[in-house]
Amino acid sequence: MCCDTERMSPMRHIIDFSDITMDEWHMLYKQCCDIISSPEDFSHVCSGKIMGSLFFEPSTRTNFSFRAAMQRLGGTVIGFADPQSSSVSKGESLKDTVSMISNYADLICMRSPVEGSAKAASMYSTVPLINAGDGGHLHPTQTLTDLTTIMQKRGQIDGLNIAMCGDLKNGRTVHSLIKALCRFKNIQFYLVAPRELTIPPYIRDLLTASGNKFYEVTGLDPVISMIDVLYMTRIQRERFSNMREYDRLKGIYILDTKKMKHARKDMIVMHPLPRVDEIEQAVDDDPRAVYFEQARYGMFIRMSLICSLSHLPRENGVLLPAGTRIKCKNPRCVTQTEKYLPKAVKENYGVKCCAYCDKELKAKK
Ligand code: CP
Repeated sequence: MCCDTERMSPMRHIIDFSDITMDEWHMLYKQCCDIISSPEDFSHVCSGKIMGSLFFEPSTRTNFSFRAAMQRLGGTVIGFADPQSSSVSKGESLKDTVSMISNYADLICMRSPVEGSAKAASMYSTVPLINAGDGGHLHPTQTLTDLTTIMQKRGQIDGLNIAMCGDLKNGRTVHSLIKALCRFKNIQFYLVAPRELTIPPYIRDLLTASGNKFYEVTGLDPVISMIDVLYMTRIQRERFSNMREYDRLKGIYILDTKKMKHARKDMIVMHPLPRVDEIEQAVDDDPRAVYFEQARYGMFIRMSLICSLSHLPRENGVLLPAGTRIKCKNPRCVTQTEKYLPKAVKENYGVKCCAYCDKELKAKK
């Protein structure tokens, strides 16, 4: 079975879902459906290919699904289970680490707690690099997983009422998914979060510019009967600097069987997982709860993505022009630790932002 490598441009890094055109999304999804229906046709597509797996932050689904995806395609995986076993523990820079791994692998997937690290790493990689989550910033392959799940379960994405509930400030899966959904038609968003954990300003600006209707609310009860897709997220303990604030906010939204009685019969409940206590275990038995299937679709769409990237030619990274260091105020931005990075500024809806982590460089007036 041939895969559709010829339909993706050479030397592609997937840092954000915006790195994929809508035509490519349709191609990836179609290929994913082919893989689901005939996995044996794809079992040798990546024979002889090697994926470098760099996980600097804990992961179950993304790590294991990428590994399983590559192995189901006939390829192999190199990487570390614990960054302390790599030379990063001796102080090796991200640039040097990625330059080395791209010597050995045909593509790289990388998870890091540092925002903007995927973009920074891609500049030094000679093979396609896939962002497997960079801190609270972006998680594009979770977005592919989420879109695949909605297509499989609802048959379409256009026109749906979609609620996202929980930690919308720190939830990278939410940021990536909103950005992606704005490229579909007539999505109505219900953004359910406490005031302290609402979406970042650049995502709000994107929603406003997209013309999609969106409602920011603090309660799930008033909206649950109106929605087609409920996307639950956990309150992200690891992103809080103040644990008292975390203790106050954790458990603020708990989806239980009582709430589910008010939801539409064809609503689906999604969650990128891991969950803590925001969905009661009893909800798992409701056929509308699709979060475990969602994780399985993640493996199939990652297989499709790997098929399309692992055969691309090796090339030198495109370095940004050298310049003075960017003064990004985000304490979690990669520019705070990897001091050699060139200055990179981009405009998000007329606002100058750090091109690595998307943080506004100057507060809005
Ligand atoms: N959804 C997700 O990214 O899960 P992991 O952190 O376990 O990879």
